[in-house]
Amino acid sequence: MKLLNVLCVVIIPVMMSCQKPQKKELISETDFSCDYNGKKVELFTLTNKNGLVCQLTNFGARVVSLWVPDKNGNFADVAVGYGTGKDFIDKKEYFFGGTIGRYGNRIGQAKFTLDGIEYQLEANNGENHLHGGSNGFYRQIWDVNQIDKQTLEFSLHSADMDGGYPGNVDVKVRYQFTDDNELKIEYFGTTDKLTVLNLTNHTYFNLKGAGAGTINDHQLMINADSFTPVDAGLIPTGEILPVKGTAFDFNNLTAIGERVDNDETQLSYGKGYDHNWVLNQSDEKLTLAAKVVEPSSGRILEVYTNEPGIQFYGGNFLDGVVGKGNKKYDFRTAFCLETQHFPDSPNQANFPDVTVTPGEEYYSICIYKFSSK
Ligand code: BGC
Repeated sequence: MKLLNVLCVVIIPVMMSCQKPQKKELISETDFSCDYNGKKVELFTLTNKNGLVCQLTNFGARVVSLWVPDKNGNFADVAVGYGTGKDFIDKKEYFFGGTIGRYGNRIGQAKFTLDGIEYQLEANNGENHLHGGSNGFYRQIWDVNQIDKQTLEFSLHSADMDGGYPGNVDVKVRYQFTDDNELKIEYFGTTDKLTVLNLTNHTYFNLKGAGAGTINDHQLMINADSFTPVDAGLIPTGEILPVKGTAFDFNNLTAIGERVDNDETQLSYGKGYDHNWVLNQSDEKLTLAAKVVEPSSGRILEVYTNEPGIQFYGGNFLDGVVGKGNKKYDFRTAFCLETQHFPDSPNQANFPDVTVTPGEEYYSICIYKFSSK
């Protein structure tokens, strides 16, 4: 009896507090790979000294998995998506984890004018153009240079008039998983003709773990006093409106689901949140753009960028597709925080400029930083 008491009072709590972090079930690089248009689709793995892992593929320079610990050191894959190259190719396209280009988000009426020349793009979202078209950068095979176990560079040549856009454009995306638990994504680009460029990453997160239910309970902060309202086709009206007094005010951490079904026209257009926020940029090079706290696991995501805007998309078009490990992704079970210039900027004179000229180097940075409490 005495021995049992000792066991219960001393040994069991000690055992619990020293619980081994849950095993990470990484996707096998061999199981992932396949061929696409005569090229090999492959999986690459980055790890930092704390054991955080990010798996990436050259099909669209995408994030495939992201293993991060909770407050007890238990790891979960917080990136929603598919688990094989074949699924990325064959199954419905949600842009899971993808590098989006040449232009992140929508361009109204699928056209814009530069230097007096009108460029016609693919209308792949009703009458509008979305995420660079149906064969955008997220569906291209990128060249790969894995520099070390924490750093990998993807590069892509996009020929003049690729997707309807002018200029031979060369882009590079560098992923680095730092020992400060930051997934650092840097974008570089050059062109030989005046063009537009707006690159972003389309990782869908659920901080409880991919496929672990709603994100309405996640708390969100967006460092923005205003946003760009849209019309029914999700094209900005050109206005920049204050968020104060609306469901778009995320200046203080607020549960995503608290106001998402409010009776506001902007929410009805997006079926919830699917909008660009105008970031309060500081003098520092990088702005803390957004922060997400998941109360049950204690996982925290912070997003830093040099971009003027961020698209917060609440997974309103997820419709029960089955992804990695047979997990089902239902309505609002993942969110994206896409750092960017504003949607439709090529047609909106009062939005920050998205043109790139020959000789200029395009540069953009997005940091997804993980912690827990
Ligand atoms: C857009 C959504 C779109 C989604 C694609 C987001 O960046 O803002 O409207 O449906 O990407 O899944």
